[in-house]
Amino acid sequence: MPHASQENPAPAQARPSRRGLLRGFWLLLWAGLVAAAGLALGAALRLIGAGSSAGAAGPVAFDPQKLPLPGQVLAQGGVALLRDQAGLFALGLTCPHLGCRPEWSPGQGRFLCPCHGSAFAYDGALLKGPAQQGLGQLALERDARGWLLADPQRPAPAGARLKAGEA
Ligand code: FES
Repeated sequence: MPHASQENPAPAQARPSRRGLLRGFWLLLWAGLVAAAGLALGAALRLIGAGSSAGAAGPVAFDPQKLPLPGQVLAQGGVALLRDQAGLFALGLTCPHLGCRPEWSPGQGRFLCPCHGSAFAYDGALLKGPAQQGLGQLALERDARGWLLADPQRPAPAGARLKAGEA
């Protein structure tokens, strides 16, 4: 009569084989790489989405009762409405470097691009790169209700102003 341990040897699956361990290692490695790639892609898309100008499709309307005083910035829909001694003007808030949206920094008195650090003066002039040019000025006009319309699709010459009597 054979010994009991010889009739029922321990099943091979009870102990992980070396091949199984290697397969598990490679599966984990691939899963990690896929997850890392997904996170990197998500972060890149968020950066592009958050920083992009996502320019307004049509004119941006500004309430005539809430216009900026000289030196103030009123930003809305990718457009900034500003006023100097000569009158009102609008700048497109699309960085000419790679299209991120610069924001006005009251403390520094300049527009700063969050993506690569370009800086622009109150009138949109380039102060610091990597952008190679300043922020573009936009056409600004009144509609029938008296609201001010700044059109991101219509550039205006630098220095153009809507005079006080028109604004
Ligand atoms: S996109 Fe503005 S500095 Fe690069």
